[in-house]
Amino acid sequence: MLGKTILLIVGGGISAYKSLEMVRALATRGVRTRAILTKAGAEFVTPLSLSALTGEKIYSDLFSLTDEAEMGHIQLSRSADLVVVAPATADLMAKMANGLANDLASTALLATDKKVLMAPAMNVRMWESASVKRNRALLEKDGVLFVGPGDGEMACGEFGPGRMAEPAEIVAAIEQALSASGPLAGMTALVTAGPTREPVDPVRFLANHSSGKQGYAIAEALMRAGAATTLISGPVSIAPPQGVKLQRVTTAREMLAACEAALPADVLVMAAAVSDWRPDIAANSKIKKSVDRVVPLIKLVENPDILATIAGGPHRPRLVIGFAAETDDVVTNAVAKRGRKGADWIIANDVSGDVMGGDRNRIHLISEAGTEDWPDMTKSEVGTQLAARIAQKLKGAA
Ligand code: CTP
Repeated sequence: MLGKTILLIVGGGISAYKSLEMVRALATRGVRTRAILTKAGAEFVTPLSLSALTGEKIYSDLFSLTDEAEMGHIQLSRSADLVVVAPATADLMAKMANGLANDLASTALLATDKKVLMAPAMNVRMWESASVKRNRALLEKDGVLFVGPGDGEMACGEFGPGRMAEPAEIVAAIEQALSASGPLAGMTALVTAGPTREPVDPVRFLANHSSGKQGYAIAEALMRAGAATTLISGPVSIAPPQGVKLQRVTTAREMLAACEAALPADVLVMAAAVSDWRPDIAANSKIKKSVDRVVPLIKLVENPDILATIAGGPHRPRLVIGFAAETDDVVTNAVAKRGRKGADWIIANDVSGDVMGGDRNRIHLISEAGTEDWPDMTKSEVGTQLAARIAQKLKGAA
């Protein structure tokens, strides 16, 4: 999303204040906002607050000669990567559906060659009226995207659909719409993350310290780059990235089955710390210390190797990337792992410090071309850079 620009049209509705919060959230993601404030919108938020948050001049009058000289309505609507209407009033929907152009907002909507995302906000009876339904159907047919409205109590005291979607939801929808023009658009990615848990009995399990942070960051970065991304996650306590298809699993065998069901994919990133072994038998009832006071011996059996199975299987992704979490001889072990598992790339890292659970990572990228040592960076930066490298590789090979 870094470096993208949206054109935000703020219509007249009590929820216009939520658009201000949305602009802030977009700014932290590196998205620039240019805004058109309609006359009705200006009754709810001021040009000054919008301008302070966007850091830009606010456009509001179609016939302002200075505006037209600086950036006319055609250029305004075309220089953005996406046009977002929030709140989208019944009036703005009707104008766009029917091609009306009698103010700056409707003129920009008619002139744009970019995708338009609308976040409707209106009274429930208006939302359910025949004409709004008709206009929505027309807009959808024309390729306009929608986010919300949500259900709930409205400012007017009524209940039902009509509340504008929350800023986080709109930001997620914007990310998704922007990623449609990303370098991985049209491709599919499968990412695994987190530990697996292998049950000993109903209350105990075998697991490891993986937090899932690196895998989640990679899945999010791939999604932002435009890939339709499936994330298969072991038990972790972090929030799933919006816009990624999440499937939760517990054991290694469940993870393998979920991965196989999610194939084919263009790229696989096995960031999960899969448990190499599982107890031979998972007891059905809690193993009791008090029964015979014998310390139980847990016999372990080997789990399937998911990475090796998929790399050698019939639906091998075009690019297979494994991880190598090592405590000793990091690069040597990882190079051997790449050959043993049949992966194209291995991301090796030294986990003897506080990498597991931490927010930073220092990785080595091992490929057919040799070993690259990446500097220490955040896990999110590793995700972004890796997604860029994946795009380069897949596009080069396409
Ligand atoms: N992996 C897997 N299935 C397993 C074990 C590991 O798919 N049963 C994957 C991991 O997701 C990772 C890569 O294989 O991408 C390497 O995992 P790692 O635990 O470092 O390697 P091991 O196979 O366990 O080898 P070793 O114990 O020798 O380090």
